[in-house]
Amino acid sequence: MADNTRAWMEELLAEMEERRKHIEAGGGPERIKKQHEAGKMTARERIQYLLDEGTFVELQPFAEPTETELMHGIQAPADGVITGYGKIGGRTVFVFSQDFTVLGGSLGKTHGRKIAHAMDMAVKVGAPVIGLNDSAGARIQEGVDSLSGYGEVFYRNAIYSGVVPQISAILGPCAGGAVYSPAITDFVLMSKGNSYMFITGPEVIKSVTREEVTFEQLGGSEVHTAKSGVAHLECEGDQGVLDTIKQLLVYLPQNAREKPPIIENGDPKNRKTPELLDQVHPDPRRPYNMHQVIETIVDEGKFLELHTNFAKNIIVGFAHLGGQSIGIVANNPRYMAGALDINASDKAARFIRTCDSFNIPILTLVDVTGFLPGVAQEHQGIIRHGAKMLYAYAEATVPKITLITRKSYGGAYLAMNSRDMGADVVLAWPTSAVAVMGAEGAANIIYRKEIQSSPDPAATRQAKINEYKKAFDNPYVAAGRGYIDDVIDPAETRRLLIQHLEMLSTKQEERPYKKHGNIPL
Ligand code: HXC
Repeated sequence: MADNTRAWMEELLAEMEERRKHIEAGGGPERIKKQHEAGKMTARERIQYLLDEGTFVELQPFAEPTETELMHGIQAPADGVITGYGKIGGRTVFVFSQDFTVLGGSLGKTHGRKIAHAMDMAVKVGAPVIGLNDSAGARIQEGVDSLSGYGEVFYRNAIYSGVVPQISAILGPCAGGAVYSPAITDFVLMSKGNSYMFITGPEVIKSVTREEVTFEQLGGSEVHTAKSGVAHLECEGDQGVLDTIKQLLVYLPQNAREKPPIIENGDPKNRKTPELLDQVHPDPRRPYNMHQVIETIVDEGKFLELHTNFAKNIIVGFAHLGGQSIGIVANNPRYMAGALDINASDKAARFIRTCDSFNIPILTLVDVTGFLPGVAQEHQGIIRHGAKMLYAYAEATVPKITLITRKSYGGAYLAMNSRDMGADVVLAWPTSAVAVMGAEGAANIIYRKEIQSSPDPAATRQAKINEYKKAFDNPYVAAGRGYIDDVIDPAETRRLLIQHLEMLSTKQEERPYKKHGNIPL
């Protein structure tokens, strides 16, 4: 190559490097300092921390903002969002990371298009999409173009739902309609104290309703993980969120056509679980620690719980059983005696559908008195919400195993994945009872006249309760009718669950043609 050609080439390379350096500097040292002082990583630091070292490949770094009258002359490196792909634990993921140092990470048309392109690519190759959100919302200077940018993202969030896993990290502001992109995704994780989500901010609320509220009180991580249920997990800072995303991915497949990876571990498949005999009290009125039960059964006692502080009466989360990723849905007798209410139904139904979308077998642990009685629950639509659970279980075609640990009564017996609702295997411990309702309530209703007219109503009532208990308050009537496959020794629980799960690993279930189902929302 002639010297002058080489020199020309080097000039072009130098220009390219100069441009790239400028882009990589984001909003400049002052704004980066501010970002660090707020306890946040920069958009690029987040990507570096999240992905396996040296695997990040950036897409469209030279993208320019859309020209509008108000954007004239404004610089926006990478248009305020870094997009690309890389690996986590050796598996490909696509990622976008909003750069708050560039126009507050606000979303303009190009910014939205870059995210949409990364999502399109993720679906073409069948890889999860991880969004690192830190944005002041719609870029005001771009007007309707910025709304269009959001539209491109929301549309893909919806049509790619159930195609590849979509995970949203909220690491700063997430305001206005912008919250609807994370809300459509499968998992929302928030950093404690540094992130918030709301449709209208404190100022607007004050002017409309006169309510005074801080950002944190309105839409901080505590609010969304405990009260609204919008977010699945609250983690300590950026690192906490990013570490948890890595953990979460271990339970997920790359896309809906694949199964989750089998994770070999040292926990023997035939390990006995005699501890369960001490962990669960046979008296149905004595609460016990369902988390402890779960940890005793699953591989290495590791359980990644979601929605930990929201609707605590039901527990949902991921674990491994014999190396196989499973989703667990369990009543929690420590809260509201494990009764199902509106929030618990929504929480469980959403989780069941997440598992089914991504080929994750579901283990249901049942100890439930029923749906929560009450005027408020009825008026707020427990019928509509409870129906979601029935629908979600029936719709799910993944392997479904149910283990009844103690009570399973009434509508909640059906809603917790009974045989007739499509459970592939139903097991019960000898401590369990399957009936329309508890013996006390049942005796009061069906023997009311007899009790009232008896010379000793209390003694008659107790005798009738005992009679009912003997007849129904045990697992053997249901087992006798084939609603329960087997009554098992709790010490054999893990071994048997793993055997059933392995048997079900080739399960295929076809459903009649439909465009899509119409789950009650
Ligand atoms: C363009 C914006 C911006 C916006 C902030 N900036 N919001 N630029 N569009 N929406 C710029 C600021 O001018 C500033 O630029 C930089 O981002 C950082 O903003 P600060 O205010 O200095 O930061 P901070 O004090 O941390 O406050 C963050 C904030 C606040 C709370 C998010 O910026 C804010 O309230 N912004 C407006 C939020 C909003 O109303 N967004 C529209 C929501 S409606 P310099 O150059 O000084 O660094 C919406 C509709 C979406 O999003 C609809 C989808 C369907």
